[in-house]
Amino acid sequence: MPEKSTWEKFFDAHAPIYDQNEFTKNTVQEVDFLLEELELPSGASILDVGCGTGRHSIELAKRGYTVTGIDLSAQMLAKAAEAATASGVHVEWVHSDATRFSLHKQFDGAICLCEGGFGLLGSRDDPIAHPLAILCNVCRSLKPQAMAVFTVLNGAAMIRKFQQKDVEESRFDPLTMVEMSDNPPREGLPTIRVRERAFVPTELSLLFRLAGMSVLNMWGGTAGNWGRRRMDLDEIEIMIVARNGAEPLAGPGNSRR
Ligand SMILES: C[S@@+](CC[C@H](N)C(=O)[O-])C[C@H]1O[C@@H](n2cnc3c(N)ncnc32)[C@H](O)[C@@H]1O
Repeated sequence: MPEKSTWEKFFDAHAPIYDQNEFTKNTVQEVDFLLEELELPSGASILDVGCGTGRHSIELAKRGYTVTGIDLSAQMLAKAAEAATASGVHVEWVHSDATRFSLHKQFDGAICLCEGGFGLLGSRDDPIAHPLAILCNVCRSLKPQAMAVFTVLNGAAMIRKFQQKDVEESRFDPLTMVEMSDNPPREGLPTIRVRERAFVPTELSLLFRLAGMSVLNMWGGTAGNWGRRRMDLDEIEIMIVARNGAEPLAGPGNSRR
């Protein structure tokens, strides 16, 4: 068995208390919003990447959608399976790394929320290759023209949070947009060093296009404050609404003119 990645260790240990986080308390309203963005009829298939304890997957299943949730953490998935049983709904749970999964079918829509692995880097993960691999996998798993909604850490807020001293003391790397921190996954447990990557909107447009998707909108995406509104500089997360299928990038060498 390969050694667990830092985030797998972190979320395995955090799983018992994940649902106590304040940002998990708006699931019903979040799913209302997602369904407006995804434009899917009941019964459609939805992939939830980095599904965690399954709060969105389960709410979607309750509303008649056919849901598959994938996650790196077996303990988060165990909580998700318990909650689905308690709610009397069926969700397919897949224990996999979002950078590597390959599923047996294509979906009508996808979600990847509260990072869901996007930007959560292991100690040796490349800050460009890792999120791009997730996007390529999501893109391959979607039917043509299917929609996807992501929420990811906001690079503007991350830059504004840190000072030059943080760069010198290796808490933030402006070259990779990675924050390094030592966090206990639960009170009383030893800290785990984690790497979180934030994104600016222009690179998000580029990464999505490289993966084969088109960004339709970017909204303010901080949990508890989703809406079709422009993102604020200091809010924690950006929401990306994208469609599968992208025009090739036109550069000086491959312009169509
Ligand atoms: C902050 S939680 C978000 C969970 C859920 N989407 C939500 O909105 O509540 C991030 C989740 O991403 C999972 N995760 C982290 N890295 C991952 C990866 N490379 N592949 C799949 N899941 C990953 C974690 O295990 C964790 O369950």
